[in-house]
Parts: sequence; structure tokens; C-alpha cells
Amino acid sequence: MKKLQIKLSKLKLDTPVLPASGTFGYGDELIDIIDYQYIGAIITKTLTWKENAGNPPPRIWEFQNGLMNSIGLQNIGVRRFYEEKLEILRNLNKTLIVSIGGKNQDDIFKSIEFLSNKKGIDALELNLSCPNIETNKTIAENPDFTFKMLKEARRLTNKVLIAKLSPNVTDICEVGLAAEQAGADILSAVNTFKGLYYDWNREKMYAGGVSGPMIFPMALRMVFELYRKVSIPIIGLGGINSGQKALEMIFSGASAVGIGTSLVIMPDLASRVCQVILDYLNKTRKNFYSVIGSRNEKKH
Ligand SMILES: Cc1cc2nc3c(=O)[nH]c(=O)nc-3n(C[C@H](O)[C@H](O)[C@H](O)COP(=O)(O)O)c2cc1C
Repeated sequence: MKKLQIKLSKLKLDTPVLPASGTFGYGDELIDIIDYQYIGAIITKTLTWKENAGNPPPRIWEFQNGLMNSIGLQNIGVRRFYEEKLEILRNLNKTLIVSIGGKNQDDIFKSIEFLSNKKGIDALELNLSCPNIETNKTIAENPDFTFKMLKEARRLTNKVLIAKLSPNVTDICEVGLAAEQAGADILSAVNTFKGLYYDWNREKMYAGGVSGPMIFPMALRMVFELYRKVSIPIIGLGGINSGQKALEMIFSGASAVGIGTSLVIMPDLASRVCQVILDYLNKTRKNFYSVIGSRNEKKH
């Protein structure tokens, strides 16, 4: 897969195909299940400052063409991650992206500071779908909160900073631009869409985040719009379930793609997606970078 090795900002990726945060455990659980050579980098589930049990079950609901989850950031916390996982991940010799989130900004900043001097971590992805403590509104749903969060994060770390955007906004470009102006190196778009599920057995309505093939057209459009406005690279994700869909995301403007829900269902999907991208490059005699945004138009 040498031909698929790329640079994404300052990151070296083995391929442009990445797992999506939260669907790949801490990065080491699938070692015996999938071939890591097809995965561009390792990305952890979102870590919080303190260990977090997450929401009580049920936490996953199935639709015909996707999932809804309300896991509630269940994780072992940054300290245990450092003590129990980092060494194992370092030994895999792959680029490592650690996702950070939390219930308030201070906790997120503490996590950034703690992880910033740890060797073996190449990038921090800020999961901005976390509440702003003063207003209880989600950071990623407001360009000002996003700007402030990224500005402080930038001050605290020299590691590559990825801002993971929420699709639950009127104009994703406003938030993307705010993240870029505050110093983000890469955008990741998008997280899950707010949804509801009615359970007829329990006669109860559940709220959560919707993912999987059903969100692909909206995610594609958001990456398309972002590409026209921002100058930093975009990791495009949301509903990708095939090599074709990955290519469409790249045509739209993504410099790399993420796969979540469909990777859980089809663990060998990354290898197939890589093969389709490779076949396309060989058939068209194109270089990977020239394909990024090739069915879109930069407006600046
Ligand atoms: C079960 C599950 C858990 C998730 N956990 C996280 C998480 O911890 N942090 C995060 O940034 N995104 C999380 N996500 C969102 C995914 O990373 C991704 O942005 C979203 O699912 C869209 O991609 P997909 O349609 O390929 O799944 C989660 C998604 C699912 C399905």
C-alpha cells in the first residue's frame, strides 16, 4: 500500500482511510481481527479527564440503514489510557491520534496539557460535541465557543490539532472557519446527527446520535461546503460504507476519510476501500492529491 501513503498536515498516514473515533476502541482491541496496514492511523475513542461509565443501557439502536448511539463518552480517562494503553499503541509504529472530550472546558484543557508532552501521540482530535459549561450548549454548535476552545488548545499544545465538527448546525462553514482561524491544523467532519428512536416495547422515546449509510449524503454535502471555505485539510466521514463512497468524499474535498459504523459491521472494509482507491488511481493515472476536491471548486 506504499502508493497510498500520504501526508495530512504534518501527519504521516499509511493510507487515507482512518477509523472513526469511538468505533475502534482504544486502538489495540482489533489487532487480531483486522490488518492494520490498511488503516491510515490509529484513533482512540474520546477520552475524558476522569474515567467515565457513560450512559446506562440501552445505548445503541438500529435503523435499517444506520445506528443511533448514546454511549455518553464511556472511557477509562486520560491517566489510565497513558498508563495502560499508550505503550502498546506506540509499539504498533503507526501514527496515533487521541480524541479528547469532556463535560466542561477545564477538563478538556487538563487532558490536553496532560497528553501534550507524552511521546508517541502525534495528534489530538478535539471532540467538540461536548457542552459549554456556562451555557450547556454544545461547543461545536457555536463558532465563538469553537474559536475559544481551539485558541486555548493551540496555546497548550504543539501537537497536531484536529477539530471534530458537529453536523447539527445551520452553517458548518462558520464553525470550520472559526476552528481554522483559532489554529486547528485539520478539520474532521462530521460527528453524528441528533436523532430520536421510539421503542414500542418500552413505550419510550430515546435521544442519541445517528450514524451509518443513512447520513452519507448530508455528510458529503458538508465536506463539499467546507472545502470551498477553509484552507486546512478535512477528514471526511459520515456514512461511508464502500470504496466508491470514500472516493466521492475525496472528490468532494476530503484529504482522508473516516469510517465508523460500517467498520464495526465489516471489519475488513478498510482493505477493500484502499483497493478501490488504488484501482482508481491506477486506472486514471492520477496522483492521490490531485483527486482531492476534483469534483468541487475552491472559492478562495
Ligand atoms: C458507537 C459509536 C460511538 C462513537 N463514539 C464517538 C466518540 O467517542 N468520539 C467521537 O468523536 N465520535 C464518536 N462517534 C462518531 C463517529 O466517530 C463518527 O463521527 C460518526 O459515527 C459518523 O461516521 P459513520 O457514519 O461512519 O459512523 C461514535 C459513533 C458511534 C456509532
